[in-house]
This record gives sequence, structure tokens and C-alpha cells, in this order.
Amino acid sequence: MKIAIGSDHRGYEAKERIKAVIEGLGHTVLDRGAESRESCDYPDLAFAVAGDVAEGRADRGILLCGTGLGMSIAANKVAGVRAALCHDELTTQLARRHNDANILCLPADLVGDALMRSMVETWLETDFEGGRHERRVNKIREYEKAHCTAAGEQSARSAS
Ligand code: RB5
Repeated sequence: MKIAIGSDHRGYEAKERIKAVIEGLGHTVLDRGAESRESCDYPDLAFAVAGDVAEGRADRGILLCGTGLGMSIAANKVAGVRAALCHDELTTQLARRHNDANILCLPADLVGDALMRSMVETWLETDFEGGRHERRVNKIREYEKAHCTAAGEQSARSAS
């Protein structure tokens, strides 16, 4: 798979370590930055990676910031993205099995290196179960289709 990855300054070092894990499993990395520990704004990186996933330039994405919160909030604004903020092995595995999460958000300040590596491996290697979970994920897709318009269209509608 092609995996888009992005972080803010707080996630930068973990991002660099995680890239090797992804490549070690035979996947390709599309690194959207940050490129250093210099302060930057997490939404910029979240929207870059979320766009890659939603528009098919990447199969899945990984986002890292201090808590993972800002990345997950921003990425989930992009239609087609199911970004899951995970803190342990179980939530990581269920994010794939039940939610078909296509972006993994990681809290770089809160999870140690060994756990983070194994979460990334688990997330890349766990399949979606489908079945009843597919029905539920499809309801999210239907909601997006019905309610999520481009910002421009929305403001045009509320102005009329
Ligand atoms: C940056 O200071 C911090 O707010 C960011 O890394 C993240 O934790 C936001 O949710």
C-alpha cells in the first residue's frame, strides 16, 4: 500500500521512526511533513494527508501530533476519511476490524516508541471485518453524501 504520513512539530520525531516501520513491512511512504521540530499548525498536515486518502493518492494515512486530537478532528472534516485516534493495541485493531479506519492518528506525547511501532504494524496488517460493520460504515458514507457539501456550495446555499 501507499501510506501518506504527516505530523506537526510534536509528532515529527515519532513520524521519522514510524516511516521505517511502514517501509519495513513493504509499503511505500508519502511523507507530507513536518520536516523538522519547528513549530507548525497541525490542520495543514491533517488536510494534506486526508486529501491524499480521500482523493486516492494514498491507500491509507497516518497522522501524529502531541495528543492526536487535533489531527483527528481536522482529518475527519474531509469527506471519505475515517480517522481513528488510538492509544493502545485494542483500539488500533478495532479501528480496522469494525470501523475500516483509513487514517490512524497517534498521540506522540502519550505513547512510547515500542507501543507505537506495534500499533502501526497492527493497523497496517488488520483487515476490515465487513458484515454488520459494513452496514454501519455505509451509513456514514450515506450521511456524507446527503449532508457534506463543499464549503463554497454551503455558503452559497445559506446566502440564498
Ligand atoms: C501543539 O502544541 C499541540 O497542540 C498539537 O501537537 C496537538 O496535540 C493538538 O491536538
